[in-house]
Amino acid sequence: MEVAAEALDEAECYKLLSGAVVPRPIAWVSSLTEGGSVNLAPFSCYTFVSTVPPLIAISCGRKFGVVKDTVSNAVRSGEFVVNVASHDMLDALHHSSAELAADTSEAEALGIELAASHALAAPRVARAQISMECRTRDVIEFGTHRTQLLIGEVVWFHVKDECLRGGRIDTALLDPIGRVGGPNYARLGAIEGKEPVATSSVDAARNRRP
Ligand SMILES: Cc1cc2nc3c(=O)[nH]c(=O)nc-3n(C[C@H](O)[C@H](O)[C@H](O)COP(=O)(O)O)c2cc1C
Repeated sequence: MEVAAEALDEAECYKLLSGAVVPRPIAWVSSLTEGGSVNLAPFSCYTFVSTVPPLIAISCGRKFGVVKDTVSNAVRSGEFVVNVASHDMLDALHHSSAELAADTSEAEALGIELAASHALAAPRVARAQISMECRTRDVIEFGTHRTQLLIGEVVWFHVKDECLRGGRIDTALLDPIGRVGGPNYARLGAIEGKEPVATSSVDAARNRRP
């Protein structure tokens, strides 16, 4: 198939992008509403964009032009938590994407246990093996539909011992969920290690460190 992007409508573009950019990690974001209830929603257009400071970016579309609750909460309260769900939490994660009223807590509706955060008022998902507490840094808008890129600075990492091996996060133990094309999810297959490729003397020096 060969196709000019400008010949595609929005749905067709979405199908190609969401089928091509795979597998995507999922940020399961908890945030506080103005009334104090806990909003929980999954976002798979996400990555980290800086390590010093540690910055995470999440692309949030709008619902019929209206800003998603996650973004309005993150902007108003100045904080949000990115939780990393393992495969055994897939059903809860999937159902938390339901569009509930802004003051209705997905966490409460789905019986998802929460735990206090270290630095933020917004709680984290208690069973998530990793939670990253973020202070809202910026929201940048892109495109005709003014899709919002929510950027947060991680101020605290929670990493459960059960996903650590030798002091590092072990991906197989984490058993993360990936989003793939269509309304589909994937689990990791084989994990293959490779020696780092040195591209400069600086990299070479870095790679020699234990
Ligand atoms: C696995 C999964 C990934 C999703 N990824 C995104 C995403 O990257 N960006 C987005 O705007 N919506 C995404 N959604 C839809 C949101 O989760 C959904 O609109 C949700 O209701 C937003 O909740 P909020 O209004 O409480 O923020 C995704 C849904 C699922 C199930």
